[in-house]
Amino acid sequence: MVSQKHSLQSLSTFALPSYAANLLHLFAPEQLQAIDFPNLGPFYILGGGSNTIFLEDYAGTIIQPDFKGIEVQEHSDNWALHICAGENWHQLVCFCLENNIPGLENLALIPGNCGAAPIQNIGAYGIEFANFCEYVDWYNFETCEQQRLTRDECNFGYRDSIFKGKLKGKGVIVAVGVSIPKLWQPKLSYPGLQELQLPTPKQVFDTVVAIRQSKLPDPEQIPNVGSFFKNPVVDNEQYQQLSSEYESMPAFPQANGKVKLAAGWLIDQCGLKGKQIGGTAVHKKQALVLTNIANGSGKDLVALATYVRQQVKDKFAILLEPEVRLIGASGETTLETAK
Ligand code: EPU
Repeated sequence: MVSQKHSLQSLSTFALPSYAANLLHLFAPEQLQAIDFPNLGPFYILGGGSNTIFLEDYAGTIIQPDFKGIEVQEHSDNWALHICAGENWHQLVCFCLENNIPGLENLALIPGNCGAAPIQNIGAYGIEFANFCEYVDWYNFETCEQQRLTRDECNFGYRDSIFKGKLKGKGVIVAVGVSIPKLWQPKLSYPGLQELQLPTPKQVFDTVVAIRQSKLPDPEQIPNVGSFFKNPVVDNEQYQQLSSEYESMPAFPQANGKVKLAAGWLIDQCGLKGKQIGGTAVHKKQALVLTNIANGSGKDLVALATYVRQQVKDKFAILLEPEVRLIGASGETTLETAK
């Protein structure tokens, strides 16, 4: 089960050259019982590696839960799916479509595993994981027992959940429960989908795939982890000020009166598309995506992200926060401390 000095390059879609001291690849939740967490030392739980960047060699243990299985129960109004953490998210979306269980199409082509979906509450084209979540089964390192958290207990927010807050590092997601209503209502509010007239689920799926493929680089060809920063949420006063100066600025009013702005647009306005530092670069078609174009290093990436952040701060007085998780030698780190 344990291997020494394991390469992490293929375990993160940003593909920086780095090594972990130990790797535990787990195939069944029962294997968690055998881990002596209090004496394990630093560890990091890794899913599909599409939201994690290893900036340098990691001195701890990488735990990779790779539990497989999808169970479907049909009820009168909905389908209830129980999905093990190691299942690939996009494969799940395809599985549902093939089995006439439509609903998840807007979330097509999001890389990563199902067990990671609740952590950052994956979302795209007007839908997020929280809309379908019934429960999350979570193994608690302290009690060595599995417990079930309801959707409310997960405290979902924009790219946020209890697993990034109070429960961070305290357990591992084993499976997720999803409920898909039988009454299919396509969500077509996003530009690019609005044009569809009475589409079938497959047409929505195909359109989402086409939009993503036109803007977002395929990690297999150009290593990346999707959006590098979160879209910033500003108060109405700051929004009014900015929108009077930048009339075309995209903005999304939030229920709490604040306004979400598009980080990609802000970066783009700074003229940073294609900006390169070392082997890393801002993607030419979507400025929110940073890429590893020529054997980049952790230092290149930190320098690029810091530069982008500074430019946006200087122009708009907004500090962008990374959406991705940055891992340094001893664990999770930030752009400030990784310098
Ligand atoms: N924009 C630009 N220039 C750019 C990038 C974007 O002007 O270089 C403008 C777009 O024209 C649009 C607005 O900014 O008016 C928003 O752009 P887009 O629709 O591409 O979406 P996003 O806000 O940049 C978010 C998610 C994506 C998700 C899309 C679609 C975050 C951090 N990112 O991106 O999620 O696919 O919406 O819903 O919320 C991810 O999380 O990794 C991810 C890719």
